[in-house]
Amino acid sequence: MPRVLGQDPAGIVIAMREFRSGQRPATVMDRIAKGFTEDETQAIAAWLGAQKD
Ligand code: HEM
Repeated sequence: MPRVLGQDPAGIVIAMREFRSGQRPATVMDRIAKGFTEDETQAIAAWLGAQKD
C-alpha cells in the first residue's frame, strides 16, 4: 500500500476524486473513496498532510 501520511493534501483530494470516478486504477480505493464526501475527503487529506511521519 502506498504511504499517504505527509503527502500533499491537494494531491490526495485529486487522487480520491479519480478513484471515485473510476479514472484511477484501484483494487480497493475506488470503493473506499466512494464512502467519503468531498468535504470529508478534504478534512482527511488535510489531517494526513499535517502528519510528520
Ligand atoms: C482501510 C483503509 C484503506 C485501505 C486498505 C487502503 C488501501 C489502499 C491501496 C491498496 C491503495 C493502492 C490503490 C488500490 O489498489 O486501490 C491505496 C491508495 C491510496 N489511498 Fe488508500 N486505503 C485506505 C484508506 C484510505 C483513506 C481513508 C484515504 C484518504 C482519504 C486514502 C487515500 C489513498 C490515496 C490518496 C491513494 C493513492 C496514493 C498514491 O498513489 O500515491 N486511503 N490505498
